Amino acid sequence: MTDLVLGIESSCDDTAAAVVRHGREILSSVVHTQAAEHAPFGGVVPEIAGRSHLRSILPVIDEALAKAGVRLDQLAGIAVTHRPGLVGSLLVGLSAAKALAFTRGLPLVGVHHIEAHVYAATMEAPGEVSYPCVALVVSGGHTALYRAESPLHMTQLATTLDDAAGEAFDKVAYLLGLPYPGGPSISDLAEQGDESAIPFPRYRAKDGSIGFSFSGLKTAVLYHVRGGDALAPTPPPEAIPRRADVAASFQAAVVENLVRPTLRCARDQGVSQVLVAGGVACNNRLREVLGARGREAGLQVFFPSPAYSTDNAAMIAGLGWQRLAAGARDGWDLDAQPS
Ligand code: KG4
Ligand code: ZN
Repeated sequence: MTDLVLGIESSCDDTAAAVVRHGREILSSVVHTQAAEHAPFGGVVPEIAGRSHLRSILPVIDEALAKAGVRLDQLAGIAVTHRPGLVGSLLVGLSAAKALAFTRGLPLVGVHHIEAHVYAATMEAPGEVSYPCVALVVSGGHTALYRAESPLHMTQLATTLDDAAGEAFDKVAYLLGLPYPGGPSISDLAEQGDESAIPFPRYRAKDGSIGFSFSGLKTAVLYHVRGGDALAPTPPPEAIPRRADVAASFQAAVVENLVRPTLRCARDQGVSQVLVAGGVACNNRLREVLGARGREAGLQVFFPSPAYSTDNAAMIAGLGWQRLAAGARDGWDLDAQPS
């Protein structure tokens, strides 16, 4: 078996392909983002996403192979995201992967998108991550803590009662009249604001359990923007007073809502390392606060670089290689699963 794997990712609004050697060495990673197509709607529109993947999938795969200087017949196999995600989007990548694998006689492996995000945090730190460890996944669709026994074995320990952290960033950005995706725009505006200006609420579960919730925070921002009157119309962006302070104070509340449960979870699990994954892992304030508070608690916290925090196919090829090396193979009946 050669050790080159082609990874294909199309679970949400990014069409991506990558070639990775030995599960770690990224030879190419191509991402075609649909952000501009969804921006007018303030979030991902599934029907637009599926059609856009169809247009991009083959050019993106060709580009990844060309950039890596690799031919299909040199591959050990093809790895593809088959869950979780938007079914119409997943099916595009899955169909392309099946067609290529079938016609070239290559092994096919399905990869779990969330496990791949966590794997991304280990790809740039070879040899440094030891298992078991705790993983915090913070993306547009997920906010959850896992215990990872190995790259291929993860158990969910806690999740969100309502929104995902990235979704909260996107919705609050929309409310503040900032462009989609909301995470980067809020983070940029927050740099000019005072994060202690508005005491937005921090979430604590009534029963003391570890978990996440962002809906109360989102509602508090809405009330604040409407001047305390829930029934008042949302003012136009330029009429929102101290918008940078709102952005910074909201971001501080999200960061606190993520950091506290993560540190508690790592302590309860008796681990010394935490992996952080998903688009919200790009957030600079989260990196600073979790990094610093983790160090104080004797924890090593690993973040992927921003390009491998958001959706990409290098993480799919990397984890796919781990599955192939462990002897896994999927059949042509491999199906797309929303969750
Ligand atoms: O992992 P990802 O690329 O796609 C999903 O699988 O959801 O995550 C996308 C999410 C979006 O909600 C986006 O607003 C958020 O990640 N995000 C950020 C930042 N960059 C991206 N959130 C906070 N701060 C950022 N710098
Ligand atoms: Zn993702």
